[in-house]
Amino acid sequence: MTTEMITTRAEQGTEELILAIETSCDETSAAIVRGGREVLSNIVSSQIATHQQFGGVVPEIASRQHVESITRITEQAVRKAGISLRDISAVAVTQGPGLVGALLVGIVAAKSLAMALSVPLIGTHHIAGHIYANALVHELEYPLLALVASGGHTELVLLEREGEFRIIGRTRDDAVGEAYDKVARSLKLSYPGGPHIDRLAQQADRATPLPRSWLESDSYDFSFSGLKSAVLAVINQHGMKGLTLDEPALARGFQESVIEVLTEKAIRAARSAGVRQLLLCGGVAANSGLRQALAERCDAEGIPLLVPPLSLCSDNAAMIAAAAHLKWQRGQFTELDMKGDPGLSLEDWSVSRHRES
Ligand code: KG4
Ligand code: ZN
Repeated sequence: MTTEMITTRAEQGTEELILAIETSCDETSAAIVRGGREVLSNIVSSQIATHQQFGGVVPEIASRQHVESITRITEQAVRKAGISLRDISAVAVTQGPGLVGALLVGIVAAKSLAMALSVPLIGTHHIAGHIYANALVHELEYPLLALVASGGHTELVLLEREGEFRIIGRTRDDAVGEAYDKVARSLKLSYPGGPHIDRLAQQADRATPLPRSWLESDSYDFSFSGLKSAVLAVINQHGMKGLTLDEPALARGFQESVIEVLTEKAIRAARSAGVRQLLLCGGVAANSGLRQALAERCDAEGIPLLVPPLSLCSDNAAMIAAAAHLKWQRGQFTELDMKGDPGLSLEDWSVSRHRES
């Protein structure tokens, strides 16, 4: 494909149509998004039912299911959007982080489409996608702080400008969603455990006291493995003494500890950086307690809080198109020999760091 061809399409004046593909974990998704904002379609095929029997995502099975679904899901996305493949301006795909075999399926599909249609390819960062899911429904104002809470990530990301990512805090062990899933598993609840713990916590009339992991007083980092061990200790003690476990109380104790630490660190970071907005994103952003606690604290602090609708919290391809739009606007495209990168750095994906490869 020639640069000339890319320029011609970008300069047409009409807003671009991005076909995006997301296969980083256990959702196969394809979407068509116009101008980084208007979602014409966003098809998500979840593999949860398959992985449930194993209590978590089995990478090899995830890859195989992506292979089985990717063509059908992509065709559906194009059909639902009411467009023709010829209308597509660029193909975006999650380059990383994620399961390497799973990423590869989406990447091969995206490269084939980009080549066949002679349009640019945009390798996209999964977490940039979670953050920019908010741009599909809100007007973003910078500087802003994003609290990313998902199954694989827990990060505080400062964006001084559009497309510039700086991680100021991250988990030192388990991601928050991972902790939810592990605690749920030890309570014999099915995968993914987050929604079950959330539901149980709401039913509880009391909370089991559990520790808060604040780390050093000036740190924005997180740690959830100590909390997870504390929950396991409560379960084991009850088992050994033959006592009945108050599961809702334990779920509420766990959830309160998680929410308090996430909320307080996010608010402290937002205040200290003087941001104009706080964004919540990632699968755990679906948590009702977290949404409510952050909303109350942001209200008290006068910090506008943006949260995507539930359908855009969990993994989906529309969020990948929203992030890819940043690169489209700047003509920052990816070579067709791009590799999937399970450890792709968010900061390196910033628009100011784009390198012609
Ligand atoms: O962002 P996501 O869909 O996938 C990753 O990129 O990791 O996040 C999935 C995670 C799972 O760990 C799941 O248990 C958690 O999000 N989750 C929740 C809730 N809904 C999903 N955690 C707590 N409360 C919820 N309501
Ligand atoms: Zn995700």
